[in-house]
Amino acid sequence: MQPIDVTELTTDPYGTYARLREAGPVHRITGPGGAPAWLVTRYDDVRRALADPRLSLDRRHALPGNYSGFALPPALDANLLNMDPPDHTRVRRLVAKAFTPGRVDKLRAPVRKLADELLDAVEPEGRADLLAVYAGPLPITVICDLLGVPQEDRRDFRTWTDALITPDRERPHLMKEAVVGMMRFYTGLIDSKRAAPGDDLLSDLIAVQEDGDALSDDELTSLAFLILFAGYENTVHLIANAVLALLDHPELLRELRTNPDGLAAAVEELNRWDGPSPLAIRRFPLEDVEIGGVRIPAGETVLLSLASANRDPGHFADPDRLDLGRDRSGHLALGHGIHYCLGAPLARMETETALAALLERFEHLELDVPRADLRWRPAIRARGLISLPVRWSSTRRTGF
Ligand code: HEM
Repeated sequence: MQPIDVTELTTDPYGTYARLREAGPVHRITGPGGAPAWLVTRYDDVRRALADPRLSLDRRHALPGNYSGFALPPALDANLLNMDPPDHTRVRRLVAKAFTPGRVDKLRAPVRKLADELLDAVEPEGRADLLAVYAGPLPITVICDLLGVPQEDRRDFRTWTDALITPDRERPHLMKEAVVGMMRFYTGLIDSKRAAPGDDLLSDLIAVQEDGDALSDDELTSLAFLILFAGYENTVHLIANAVLALLDHPELLRELRTNPDGLAAAVEELNRWDGPSPLAIRRFPLEDVEIGGVRIPAGETVLLSLASANRDPGHFADPDRLDLGRDRSGHLALGHGIHYCLGAPLARMETETALAALLERFEHLELDVPRADLRWRPAIRARGLISLPVRWSSTRRTGF
C-alpha cells in the first residue's frame, strides 16, 4: 500500500477522495503531524466503523507514536469525544437532559435577531468578507449565549477561542496561555453559576441529576470546552460553505427563494455535499480489526472520512451533484452511532436562520472576487474558507 500525500486532500478533497475510494477501501497515510494513520473511504465501512464498539475514542488506547494530536490538560480530557462507554453513556445521558430541543428552540428568535443585527451593521457597505462579519460572529455569540458567558468577559473569550481554534505555530505560547486562560475562566464561571444559576446551558448542566449522579467539575469544564470546539468552527464553515455552494448554483438559490420551506432540507444536502467536518474523531482499535478486508492492528490510528462517505456513488446516486430534492437520509456529516453530534439541532437551526436572514435581506448577492481566488484552509480535518468576500444590492425583499 502506497502512502498518500495528504496535501492533495486539502487542495482537491473530493477529487482525491474519489480516486482513493476507487483504488481501495482503506489507505495508509501520514498525517500532517507526521503520525501514521489508516484512512477509511467508503460509505458502508465508515458508517459501520462509526458505530463499532471495538474502535475506541479514548486516546489511552493509542499505541505510542500513533497519536500526535493536541494534548489537553488532564482536566479537559474528560470530554465526550475522548470517552467510551460506560463513561460516555453516563455523561451523554446527563448532558442530554440539559441540552434539549426546547433549549435550542428558545434560541431561534435571538439567533434571528442577532443575524439581522450583524447584517444591519454591514448592509450600507455593499460588500464584506461574509466569514469575518457574519458566519464567524454568529456562532461564537450563540455559544456565549448558550453557556451564559457574561458580556464583559466576551472579548477575552474570543481572544482565547481564536488562539485555540487557529493556533499560531510560530508562537505556541499563545495557545498555552489560551488553554490556561480559558480553563481558569470556565472554573470561575462554573463557580459563579453554581452560586447564582442563570437561564443558560451551563447552569442546567450543573443542576442536572440522575439517581444521585451529577457531572463533576472536570466534566463540566471539559464539556464547556467541547461545546466550543465542536460547535463553533463547524458552524462557521457550514454557513460559509453553504453560501458559496448556493452562489455557485444560482438555479438552486432561485429555487430556494421561491420555496423557503425547502431550507431545512437544503441545509442537510449542503452539509452532505460540502460539510465542514471531513473526518470523524480519530479512533483506536481495542483489538486487531478488519475494515474493508484490511487488517488494522490494535492501537493504530483510524481516520473515518465522512466527506468521502458522503460522496460515495455506492450509496448516493450521482453524489457530486448538489441536489436539494435528493434522498440524503443517512448522510454522515454529523456522525453516526453513540457519538452522533449532540449539537445537531443547534447547528441546523443556526445555519437555516443565517441563510434565511441573508437571502431575505439581499435580493442580489454575488462573489466579490474571482471564484478561483477563494482559498480553503490547508487542513484535512476542517473544510472551510479563509475568507468569503461578497457584494450585494441592498434592495430588501419582502419575503424570502
Ligand atoms: C455544522 C456544524 C457541526 C458539524 C458538521 C458537527 C459534526 C460533528 C460530528 C461529525 C460529530 C461526531 C464525531 C465522531 O463520532 O467522531 C460531532 C459530535 C459532537 N458535536 Fe457536533 N457538529 C456541528 C455542530 C455542533 C454544535 C453547534 C455543537 C454544540 C453546541 C456540537 C457538539 C458536539 C458534541 C458535544 C459532540 C460529541 C458527542 C458525543 O461524543 O457523544 N456540534 N459533531
